[in-house]
Amino acid sequence: MPSGKADSPITIRPARPGELAELSILCIRSKAVWGYSADFLAACRPKLALRAEDLATSHVAVARRRGHAMGVLQLTVQGDSATLGKLFVEPQALRTGIGRALFAEAVRAARDAGARTLVIDSDPAAAGFFRRMGATAAGEVACDCVPGHTLPQLLLAL
Ligand SMILES: CC(C)(COP(=O)(O)OP(=O)(O)OC[C@H]1O[C@@H](n2cnc3c(N)ncnc32)[C@H](O)[C@@H]1OP(=O)(O)O)[C@@H](O)C(=O)NCCC(=O)NCCS
Repeated sequence: MPSGKADSPITIRPARPGELAELSILCIRSKAVWGYSADFLAACRPKLALRAEDLATSHVAVARRRGHAMGVLQLTVQGDSATLGKLFVEPQALRTGIGRALFAEAVRAARDAGARTLVIDSDPAAAGFFRRMGATAAGEVACDCVPGHTLPQLLLAL
């Protein structure tokens, strides 16, 4: 069982093809912390999956603590705009600094790729975290996996 113990160092590295199935399940477990119904989570499932082609078209990085995956991010850069497609932390490791470390990695990777703006279509319950990371609210966008559901959009100037 992975330990979310906060006093152990966090390491971040690119995800490997052989761990994408495990990381996809981590994303679902993480999304579930907000208490969504099974039907809602099932509708989100395709969007939460990480596939081998994602490693070629986006930056996918995993945060590890004590040898276990504790969170994952996915970032896509197009021109001067970067999109944070995923940022998910293992439920038992919430509020122990994993999200902040992964967000910093997303910002670093976006800047290195030449992006000037980071776009975040956030889960409503996570918007406070992104504001804490310096992003500012920029309205609402339609959720592309659950019809009729909207998400707060936040932006960070890089
Ligand atoms: C949002 C999420 C990534 C935050 O990760 P985390 O590892 O718990 O965050 P951290 O421990 O690094 O917290 C960093 C700071 O943000 C604050 N914070 C964390 N989650 C917060 C939230 N939901 N709302 C407001 N502030 C939050 C922390 O208190 C901490 O504040 P500090 O600067 O005073 O210390 C995590 O809650 C998560 O994975 N949630 C489920 C999946 C999800 O919704 N992901 C986002 C998809 S868009």
